[in-house]
Amino acid sequence: TYESKIYSLPTSDQVSQAANHFLELKSKEAIAKHGRFTVAFSGGSLPTLVTKYAAHNPNIDFSKWFIFFADERCVAHSSPDSNYKLVVDEFIQKVNANGKTIIPEQNIFAINQSLVHNSEEAAEDYEHQLTSVFVSKDSVRYPIFDLILLGMGPDGHTCSLFPGYPQVQETGRWITHIDNSPKPPSSRITLTLPVINDAHNVAFFSTGAGKAAILKEILDERSEKYPSAKVIPHRGNLYWFLDSPASSQLQES
Ligand code: 6PG
Repeated sequence: TYESKIYSLPTSDQVSQAANHFLELKSKEAIAKHGRFTVAFSGGSLPTLVTKYAAHNPNIDFSKWFIFFADERCVAHSSPDSNYKLVVDEFIQKVNANGKTIIPEQNIFAINQSLVHNSEEAAEDYEHQLTSVFVSKDSVRYPIFDLILLGMGPDGHTCSLFPGYPQVQETGRWITHIDNSPKPPSSRITLTLPVINDAHNVAFFSTGAGKAAILKEILDERSEKYPSAKVIPHRGNLYWFLDSPASSQLQES
């Protein structure tokens, strides 16, 4: 039986505390089951929000973490727009500075720097990187992440899957690309929906009043027209972590 849960916390700091417990639990579960924890990060506010406390949690064995990007902007690693830079600065450096367990360099799967000017090739290369981790002798149709961490835009996008854009329909690829993203920067690579929906756990993190209207449409009115609403894991758990400004328009449950 799979869980589908909405956690509504009073403040975004409490969302960060909840994320800490959640990451400890999910990484322990995965490591006990298969010796590693494969996790994909989105960009935006998410890396800072979810790792604020978790980066300092001594009960997490970070040496077993394999870190991926649910979506990434086609920019240099040093760019302020880079999700990789965000995750390194906000999370990986803090974990490694604490020194209890280190995230091995080879466990961090970043976009290939030499391909950022060609998003199609960057997507193919990233898919290839995933193959090296997820395809065993029993070949898999889609990679199965232990956890995919998602944010949501006020237009209902998640990853770089934007409403009305063809990437939302993609089923043949693990990773696809976009060159006309309505959210800058315009060139990006992203996980596809079938990969998201094959994960063991998918967790959305949404904070702030700017998300209240779209959350009402998706969680109360069950509107299926948004990419975020098409996230329905087939054999995994789905979680929403919200603060009270984000959940302010939801019905009491
Ligand atoms: C990115 C994203 C994107 C993000 C949402 C929500 O642009 O890199 O991964 O999908 O998660 O736009 O962003 P916020 O959490 O900053 O509102």
